[in-house]
Formats: sequence, structure tokens, C-alpha cells
Amino acid sequence: MRKAGAITAGALEAAAKAIHPGMSTKELDKVIHNYITSHGAKPSFLGYAGYPASACISVNDTVIHGIPSAHEKLKEGDIVSVDVGAYIDGFHGDATKTFMVGEVSPVAKALLSSTEESLMLAISMAKPGIRIGDLSAAIQEYNESRGFGVVREYVGHGVGSELHEEPEVPNFGRAGHGVRLVPGLVIAIEPMITEGSPRVKSLSDGWTVKTVDGSLAAHFEHTIAITPDGAVILTLPE
Ligand code: MF3
Ligand code: CO
Repeated sequence: MRKAGAITAGALEAAAKAIHPGMSTKELDKVIHNYITSHGAKPSFLGYAGYPASACISVNDTVIHGIPSAHEKLKEGDIVSVDVGAYIDGFHGDATKTFMVGEVSPVAKALLSSTEESLMLAISMAKPGIRIGDLSAAIQEYNESRGFGVVREYVGHGVGSELHEEPEVPNFGRAGHGVRLVPGLVIAIEPMITEGSPRVKSLSDGWTVKTVDGSLAAHFEHTIAITPDGAVILTLPE
């Protein structure tokens, strides 16, 4: 699964280099598609439940599952979440980063930091014997104590030969609850955090998920493997 993870991470690096004001989210999707396919992998999301693109690209108040569009252009001050999956040799990698387009507001920066730091905190805690609820509670506490909202409707998940496997990995919950992590388990942890209310709505395109109050949302995700000594991040560049 390191191979799938490295290609996933490489696609996010390619996205980071390509992002600039004036670029359409469709052009950004093309960069990601080309990276994944030129490295011998398949985009995990393309065709998944009918999803029409290789990446989910979610701008500002879009939380997740933004569909790339030629009409949607990135502009200075935007934040853009890029969610990528790559499938190779029978396994998936799944990772997300929220990028800044040029200079962004202080609250946007704080939201991105809190979301990414809560992901890294959960990864640092993950080891055999720790329960899913321990990770969930840590992510929730980290973000809510900074005044941010934790989305309830969507959660992290196991990853393997299928993109979404058991167990669910919520970003909210109670320490001491949930299944225990064991060596060999691979999960995607993916906090989806809002500037304001955590309430979200789905658009009529069947995919796009936005904040109800129009506030910003951030999303960071890594695929990690539990080993006897702790967690290894699989979605790092080679
Ligand atoms: N990375 C997303 C997740 O973890 C997958 C995107 S949904 C898809 O659930 F349908 F577009 F693939
Ligand atoms: Co995921």
C-alpha cells in the first residue's frame, strides 16, 4: 500500500505546484489525473458511484466532493481542498490537503492549521490498543477548543482493496469507545472542519457538500498503517 500512497501523495504535490489564481478546478483535476495515470495507477474516485472526475476539489465553503468545473476559477484568497485517491497493484491510497491560493485571511490560516494539526495529533496517538474513539475525541477537542466546527455527517474509514472499508473513523466521539487498533489495520483519518456552524448541506448535483452558514471549511486526510510500534503514514511522497 506504500506504492498507492506515494502516488496519491505525489499527485497532491503536483496539485500544490500547479495551483495559481485564474486556474479552473477542471484544469487542476487534469493535472492530478495525468500524474496518477502516468505513474501507472488509476484514479480511485473516477467512476466511483458514478463520480465524474479524478479528484474532489472543494473551494471555500465547499466541504467535500466538489466536482471540478471549467467555470470555477481559483482566485487569490481562496482555500481549496484537493482530495485524491490512487489505485495500483490491488490497493488504494486516499489523501487530502487544503491549499491556500496566494495570501488568505488570518481565520482561514487558523482553520487550516487547526485541521492539519488535529490530523497529525491523531496519527501520533495511533498504535495497537488505542481505540478509534480516542482518536475521534482528540480531533474533536482540538478543533472545538479553537472555536471551529466538526462535521458529523462524513467520517474517515478503513482503506484496502476497497476505497471505503470498516471501521468508520469519526472526527467526534468519546475516548475509550470504539474498536481497538491492531497491527495491519489501514485507515484514512480525515477531519472536515468548519469556521462556523458544523452543519452541512448537499447540492442537487448529488455530490457537492457545503456549509449551511456559508463559512469556510478545511479538510486534511492521510492513509495510515498501524504497526506494532505505531502508525506509519502511507500517503507521503516517495
Ligand atoms: N476521499 C473521499 C473519501 O474519503 C472519497 C471521495 S468520494 C468519491 O471518502 F466518490 F468521489 F470517490
Ligand atoms: Co477518505
